[in-house]
Amino acid sequence: MPHQVLLSWKDEKQMADTKLIDLAIEASKFAYVPYSHFPIGAALVAADGQVFTGCNIENASYPLTNCGERTAIFKAISEGVTDFKELVVYGETQKPISPCGACRQVMAEFFKQDLPVTLVAKDKSTVVMTVGELLPYSFTDLK
Ligand code: THU
Repeated sequence: MPHQVLLSWKDEKQMADTKLIDLAIEASKFAYVPYSHFPIGAALVAADGQVFTGCNIENASYPLTNCGERTAIFKAISEGVTDFKELVVYGETQKPISPCGACRQVMAEFFKQDLPVTLVAKDKSTVVMTVGELLPYSFTDLK
């Protein structure tokens, strides 16, 4: 009888997080960043377990740049997926990457306030913040 290794819920969560971080790092390799040379990768997990990855895509007209997080979110939304579990964002930064204001506003549009966002640095150190913490008192409704 082979030895059975029982994984705790915590171990499984940690393995899943490691996999998502690796997917975000892989996605950052597709970043189109001829201007900033600052690749970003994201991995967005939908409620049904599907993962949408994204990278930043720059343009000679700088403001047209799309951030990695928004690429992942827009990929999911454009495929009819609207229910999400978590987001991982990777940047080659010393401290875990800090998403820009535009991305925080887009997160507030499509994610629940308590959705966890794992921010990852170059050395894979992480900070986990909720959408509500990233953008408190956000503008989400016209009335
Ligand atoms: N960028 C992202 O893709 N996500 C972030 O969270 C921060 C900034 C991109 C935009 C641009 O391509 C480059 O990083 C430098 O600002």
